[in-house]
Amino acid sequence: ATPIIFDCDPGVDDAVALLLAFASPELELLAITTTAGNVSGTLTARNARLIRQLAGREDVPVHIGAERPLVREPVEAGAFHGESGLGALPIAEPALPVTSGDAVQAIIDIVRARPEGSVTLVVTGPMTNAALALQRAPDLAARLKAIVAMGGARSEGGNITASAEFNIFADPHAADVVCRSGVTIVAFGLDATHQVRATEARIAAIEALGNPLADAAASLLRFSREVERQVVHGLDAPLHDPCPIAWLIRPSLFELRPCRLDVETGSPLTMGHTAVEFRAPEPNAQWAVKADADGLFALLTERLA
Ligand code: BDR
Ligand code: CA
Repeated sequence: ATPIIFDCDPGVDDAVALLLAFASPELELLAITTTAGNVSGTLTARNARLIRQLAGREDVPVHIGAERPLVREPVEAGAFHGESGLGALPIAEPALPVTSGDAVQAIIDIVRARPEGSVTLVVTGPMTNAALALQRAPDLAARLKAIVAMGGARSEGGNITASAEFNIFADPHAADVVCRSGVTIVAFGLDATHQVRATEARIAAIEALGNPLADAAASLLRFSREVERQVVHGLDAPLHDPCPIAWLIRPSLFELRPCRLDVETGSPLTMGHTAVEFRAPEPNAQWAVKADADGLFALLTERLA
């Protein structure tokens, strides 16, 4: 199994990604680390524990991380995720607290304790924890197998501003640290995630499984779909955060291209824009250009069964 640390800001699509990861034997979940993003840091850590409890996976530690971005003021996306961050899912305080030790140190310690080049850091929120870990422990850039992230936008522009995708916009300086660190990056931006839409038929197929995990996933997906259809002129909701997890399980679901990835941190107008240069002689990233949406939903449905 591929050992991963899953850094996230649940978030309805983060929650679906967590459910997929928990249900997939191809992945060894070493830890979940949380960051402020879609909602506050306190809420994302609670939501991660709630999903962990739902999946019966209290063996996986949850470490709470950055409360705010490196430089900029916090930006949240509660409108897309509901006040709780988990849409219409019933909320209760999870039985177990967060694991002691902050997320950044946990990432460093876990990566250093494992063989070089073995651990993958998955990031589906702002890259604050990843950047802090790389700043505190620059050896992580070479020790990590890769950072596999949901973030960025190239072909059709952004989803929070004209040029920026939310995760990068929420902490552009952190994404910049990651891009310059020398770590291998695999990025699933809007170019790929907008190809994966939660249609009513796909949600109904999950709901028809009729078990608690599938019910939760269907509730999360339906919430996203309703919000997206109100906000973005009737389009079905894109399924962002499960993409990096699905790629780790089944790489054939995506087509990637090597590129040089850089992030705008200066211009107020294009803050958080990802510059994706396919012609660069020295690539630092793989950029997802194509996704097999039917295949991804088939995988998700199979795993929730
Ligand atoms: C990203 O932003 C968040 O709102 C989602 O959870 C996803 O990680 C999509 O732009
Ligand atoms: Ca997210």
